[in-house]
Amino acid sequence: MGEGYYKTKASVEEYIKLAKGVDGQILIEKLKEHLPSGAHLLEIGSGPGTDWNILKKDYDVVGSDNSSEFLNHLISNNPQGRFLELDAVTLATDKIFGGIYSNKVLHHLKDKELIASINRQYEILNTKGIICHSFWKGKGSEIFKGLFVNYHSEQILRNLFEKKFEILFLDCYQEFENNDSILLIGRKK
Ligand SMILES: C[S@@+](CC[C@H](N)C(=O)[O-])C[C@H]1O[C@@H](n2cnc3c(N)ncnc32)[C@H](O)[C@@H]1O
Repeated sequence: MGEGYYKTKASVEEYIKLAKGVDGQILIEKLKEHLPSGAHLLEIGSGPGTDWNILKKDYDVVGSDNSSEFLNHLISNNPQGRFLELDAVTLATDKIFGGIYSNKVLHHLKDKELIASINRQYEILNTKGIICHSFWKGKGSEIFKGLFVNYHSEQILRNLFEKKFEILFLDCYQEFENNDSILLIGRKK
């Protein structure tokens, strides 16, 4: 899937520098309206761990990534933290969570992979479990820095997620430019 950019030491170090100052604080504030503090939360694609560090203030959070470079970085910077090597599509864990969070991760999945991920998220959530995910807004897909990037609209995300999740919040927000991103929060049906 061309995800080499997140897999080498040099590019992971470059990404960590570029992403400094970007975090999911506003998404996490929204999540807190729906997921009680103390909940057992899985983060998919923790990357440098910026959001993991915010999430851990309120939640019993387990970080994860499918890149061993990012996992090494996460573990050495947070020796007390809990991290799993997980791919967003298969989520091969026998643990069950009260919530699942990702910030700019699931756009790396092709349409069929996203459907598989949604179904798997449903399986590893408690009754009425909460999901909170961000996406890049737009149409089509492209390869950016060797990474597959899938763009979405609110309607497409609603259609994909509402089969398994009651949509609690679905709206645009600004990461870099006006309305360039979408946040979706849902509850397991
Ligand atoms: C934009 S970064 C996420 C940044 C993170 N939200 C933070 O707070 O720093 C995207 C991350 O998703 C991971 N990723 C990409 N595809 C993935 C997949 N299929 N499964 C799990 N992680 C994936 C990458 O390795 C990378 O660490």
